[in-house]
Amino acid sequence: MSVPHLLSTLDLPVEDITTLLDDAASVLSPTGLHSVVPQTLAGKRIVLAFFEPSTRTRLSFETAAKRLGASTIFVQTSGSSVEKGETMRETIRTIEAMGFDAIIMRHAQNGIMHEIASYSKMSVINAGEGSLSHPTQALLDASTIREALGSVQGKKIAIVGDLRHSRVAQSTSDVLVRLGAEVAYCSPDTFAPIDQRLLLLNRLDSIDEAIGWADVVYLLRIQWERIDGPHEFDVAAYRQMYSYTEARALANPAVLVMHPGPVNVGVEIDENVLELAQCKIHQQVTHGVAVRMAVLKRLLTT
Ligand code: NCD
Repeated sequence: MSVPHLLSTLDLPVEDITTLLDDAASVLSPTGLHSVVPQTLAGKRIVLAFFEPSTRTRLSFETAAKRLGASTIFVQTSGSSVEKGETMRETIRTIEAMGFDAIIMRHAQNGIMHEIASYSKMSVINAGEGSLSHPTQALLDASTIREALGSVQGKKIAIVGDLRHSRVAQSTSDVLVRLGAEVAYCSPDTFAPIDQRLLLLNRLDSIDEAIGWADVVYLLRIQWERIDGPHEFDVAAYRQMYSYTEARALANPAVLVMHPGPVNVGVEIDENVLELAQCKIHQQVTHGVAVRMAVLKRLLTT
């Protein structure tokens, strides 16, 4: 019997996205997460296998699982020690043999999630896949916007920064567009998208243009770890054109600021912007736990 997975937003019909967001909203209160929730996943065993470093996503998934009563075990594996193909298959078989119900996986290789799902008897949950996809990030972003602005439908969202190497840009833009938002992007040529779906989005020339147009400016970190070879980077020039400086934030209090984290203070955002009311980065973290609870419930109780 096949088990349900969460591999990509592209596999999720819009009705399923809305159901997950509604379920996430049910564990959120105006001040954060409800402190008591039914232990729906009591007895379930979940392994978190992270082949790339992560702090917040790992903590968020673990928190979500534990809040629902599941037990979790974390495995950190260096990317070089486990190769794809047979070795990965053997790793999955070994974990399966220990009786886990689900594997939450982060991995640098595009395509790995569907490959593993093709033979895994556990639910596979994508916690970040190369430069390709990050479905729970997309759901938490939509959830945050929905709470902050009442809905995603009709809202204008400008994604600013390194779209080329960003799995977040791919998944988040997909979900926001399908929920009815207008999404545009803004980046220097070196970080402009190459993905066909992202190239369909309108391009804005500068962060000032983005701020003038958007309800939400969604900042991305430059993904240096995915850029090969030597690179020159002029921080001052980048700040001039693409950074959410304090001056820009103070001049535009109605525009919301989001970022998947971790932020590079002084590059794409100024430290003081993080504390402003229009900045929703910490709300995104809270929504992350809520949507991951919704995802785990859906996959492990059906
Ligand atoms: C993102 C990721 O890992 O893709 N972060 C996250 O999941 N919190 C974005 C990033 O690393 O810049």
